[in-house]
Amino acid sequence: MVTLDINGKKYNLDVAPEMPLLWAIRDIVGLTGTKFGCGIGACGACKILINNEATYSCLTPVSDAKGKKIITIEGKIPNLQLLQEAWAEYNVPQCGYCQPGQLITATSLLNSNPSPSETEIDAAMSGNLCRCGTYQRIKNAIHHTVE
Ligand code: FES
Repeated sequence: MVTLDINGKKYNLDVAPEMPLLWAIRDIVGLTGTKFGCGIGACGACKILINNEATYSCLTPVSDAKGKKIITIEGKIPNLQLLQEAWAEYNVPQCGYCQPGQLITATSLLNSNPSPSETEIDAAMSGNLCRCGTYQRIKNAIHHTVE
């Protein structure tokens, strides 16, 4: 049994300690905003916040998340609403699949660095891939949020 704190709620999960956190969140807890893309830490679709840091949930065993504060895209995150408004204004999503992970990374960036430079935005967002190529719109939306 593993107890996880997800979005401020405690979940007692009967899962193997090595199960990737992504599967516990999606398949056991039922929070499906966090997406599976590659399963090998290459795309960022599965990003969540663990103790306020954007983290690949596909690479994190549930045992590593014990006692930590896990926040998914469904949770309350500072700056998320502002970013979502900018995402809408700049028509960022195309298919939308990678966008929860993109937003998680963007919130993590702004929460640690409220006025990031172009280079800092590029560096922070480099672990999130988008097959539709929405990168420039994502950057524009982040810039708009910090203006
Ligand atoms: Fe985790 Fe791609 S699913 S990085």
